[in-house]
Amino acid sequence: MILVGVLVLSQLVPVDRSVPEVDPAQDFLTAVDAPAEMASLIKDACYDCHSYQTKYPWYAKVSPVSFWIQGHINGGRQHLNFSEWTAYPAEKAAHKLEECYEEVEELHMPMKSYTWLHPEAKLSEAQVGAMAQWFQQTYRSQQ
Ligand code: HEC
Repeated sequence: MILVGVLVLSQLVPVDRSVPEVDPAQDFLTAVDAPAEMASLIKDACYDCHSYQTKYPWYAKVSPVSFWIQGHINGGRQHLNFSEWTAYPAEKAAHKLEECYEEVEELHMPMKSYTWLHPEAKLSEAQVGAMAQWFQQTYRSQQ
């Protein structure tokens, strides 16, 4: 009973999902003029956590899952925010691209707990290869 009570009450604890207004001109995929297919792959696999264009599933509103999910999103944006891409100094942007290449290549991103709930974001072996290669190419072109 107590547990149920705590769970019900915890629904009332607000989770801050607010984002600043998105400026399309600052967006990573626009700035680097990504090919449409790669852009849509990256949007599906990375943008929920690494941009202000998060699409929340219904269960993201239910605590305590809501706290856990928002934690990933805040952490993701803090490390890498594709919605504020053009605000990164050139050197930092290049470094982030190199890290994107490594994270994808080593299968660290997208996070496992995420692809488990978002099958559409799960990358096939060929997609991992193509995305890693594209990030590497983009990184080199900014050197
Ligand atoms: C479920 C949320 C989520 C998704 C989806 C996701 N990430 Fe992340 N990402 C994180 C979090 C949280 C961190 C912070 C460090 C950590 O916990 O590993 C992170 C860290 C990173 C970093 C390290 C940045 C740094 O400077 O340390 C890179 C690069 C990265 N992610 C790239 C990607 C790419 C590319 C994709 C899509 C293929 C992706 N991520 C998908 C949540 C996510």
